[in-house]
Amino acid sequence: MLVALLLLLALSNEVRVNGDSDGRQCEVNPALKPRPHTVSILEFGAVGDGKTLNTIAFQNAIFYLKSFADKGGAQLYVPPGTWLTQSFNLTSHLTLFLEKGAVILGSQDPFHWEVVDPLPSYGRGVEVPGGRYQSLVNGYMLHDVVITGNNGIIDGMGLGWWELFSSHSLNYSRPHLIELVASNRVVVSNLTFLNAPAYSIHPVYCSNVHIHNVSISAPQESPYTIGIVPDSSDHVCIEDCVIATGYDAISLKSGWDEYGIAYGRPTENVHIRRVHLQAYSGSTIAFGSDMSGGISNILVENVHLYNSKSGIEFRTMRGRGGYMKEIIISDIEMENIYTAMAATGYCGSHPDDKFDPNALPLLDHIILQDMIGTNITIAGSFAGLQESPFTNICLSNVTLSINSVSSIPWECSNVSGFSDSVLPKPCPDLETLSDCLSLLSIKGKTAVM
Ligand SMILES: *[C@@H]1O[C@H](CO)[C@@H](O)[C@H](O)[C@H]1NC(C)=O
Ligand SMILES: *[C@@H]1O[C@H](CO)[C@@H](O)[C@H](O)[C@H]1NC(C)=O
Ligand SMILES: *[C@@H]1O[C@H](CO)[C@@H](O)[C@H](O)[C@H]1NC(C)=O
Ligand SMILES: *[C@@H]1O[C@H](CO)[C@@H](O)[C@H](O)[C@H]1NC(C)=O
Ligand SMILES: *[C@@H]1O[C@H](CO)[C@@H](O)[C@H](O)[C@H]1NC(C)=O
Ligand SMILES: *[C@@H]1O[C@H](CO)[C@@H](O)[C@H](O)[C@H]1NC(C)=O
Ligand SMILES: *[C@@H]1O[C@H](CO)[C@@H](O)[C@H](O)[C@H]1NC(C)=O
Repeated sequence: MLVALLLLLALSNEVRVNGDSDGRQCEVNPALKPRPHTVSILEFGAVGDGKTLNTIAFQNAIFYLKSFADKGGAQLYVPPGTWLTQSFNLTSHLTLFLEKGAVILGSQDPFHWEVVDPLPSYGRGVEVPGGRYQSLVNGYMLHDVVITGNNGIIDGMGLGWWELFSSHSLNYSRPHLIELVASNRVVVSNLTFLNAPAYSIHPVYCSNVHIHNVSISAPQESPYTIGIVPDSSDHVCIEDCVIATGYDAISLKSGWDEYGIAYGRPTENVHIRRVHLQAYSGSTIAFGSDMSGGISNILVENVHLYNSKSGIEFRTMRGRGGYMKEIIISDIEMENIYTAMAATGYCGSHPDDKFDPNALPLLDHIILQDMIGTNITIAGSFAGLQESPFTNICLSNVTLSINSVSSIPWECSNVSGFSDSVLPKPCPDLETLSDCLSLLSIKGKTAVM
């Protein structure tokens, strides 16, 4: 029967390659034309002494540059210096360019920080019910926005926010460094992001987002700091990035319980490659647990994951609805990771008590292949929901050296899948005959499994 299935699939030319444009979004390089107009933030009275608040200068400069939108757009140049500011909004056809030595510093005073409405797919702030502090750099319904530089820095000075979070003293959910809402054609590149209050880069309801050559870091102990969060967004590329954060490095999301289901916008067609990720208390690559709009057609390749609690983790729970499916992760190198792979149906919380307990999430067609790991404690931990078991979890060419701390390398319940060339030997649940091959055509590996 296995042979018959293999033949059937091998003969089929229909074997899909991860959605449209091959799912290889990073190969669709956005063409960036130089902006015909440039102004420096100095022309708007900004002072780069690290003490003067420059919010008005940023707002005025961007307001002025709006008028160039139909003339090929414009660039706002930030020269070397330390530019303290509160939240400001970008505009379409704008390039924000941070020169080497330029540091945009987020002001720490929450009393003067603007509060905005919760995102409709979450229904409330994710940390505290109600509104959210506006992010440091914002875009709303924009197109053609470039946030780049010559390795300039955006520093969120998160310490104060982390303390408010940890002492349960936040009145609203913490701000992010960059949040782009409902925007199309966004590039973030050649910058360093430090000390985000919560997330560093949060594209939500966006399309065609290209994030490359950025470095992101937040201290190990910073609570729930996350590097990049593609959220209800499609056609996203993340490549050549180095990320080290307190919680997750890259986390794909799509809304929360009944709000996410009602909004119904998935995260799909995401390509991640050539990234070095470290996530102290969470996972280097995470899916969910807010995934109610669905997550599918994801291709992750050539990743180096190290010094983290978890390598690759799928999180969900009853009430979420939605799905995580058609996800391929390959060419993975792991070092010093407690749990290499995990999928759980028991992780997260609900926005309120109006969630539908019968909204069961789906986890299906997940391929993890060409993985090598050293100093791993748990190879895989899979806990599906009894009423919605995880299906078609496919492991191929996985070699993990398990350390002496480990007692059992695999934990499996309510999960089924298929394995080929996996060490240590997986639980029997992952050795059933599954329909893994219909996804596995990248790199001509169909014949291998
Ligand atoms: C920035 O945009 C948000 C909407 O996303 C709006 O609520 C806020 O008032 C704007 N702030 C400024 C200073 O224009
Ligand atoms: C939160 O709200 C309370 C009550 O209005 C106020 O006393 C406190 O200063 C606020 N804290 C912050 C950080 O805004
Ligand atoms: C980022 O840097 C690379 C390499 O230095 C350069 O080729 C690219 O054009 C830069 N991107 C932007 C948007 O400036
Ligand atoms: C971006 O690429 C350039 C050239 O390769 C490199 O010098 C720079 O350090 C990179 N920046 C980041 C933030 O990784
Ligand atoms: C092995 O990995 C764990 C994290 O799971 C880490 O704490 C420990 O230091 C690592 N051991 C070595 C020898 O690197
Ligand atoms: C198995 O995975 C390793 C590590 O990623 C890779 O170097 C090797 O080429 C793979 N083997 C096959 C047969 O694909
Ligand atoms: C499925 O999960 C439930 C709850 O954790 C557990 O009681 C049950 O034994 C599991 N079923 C299988 C087949 O592992």
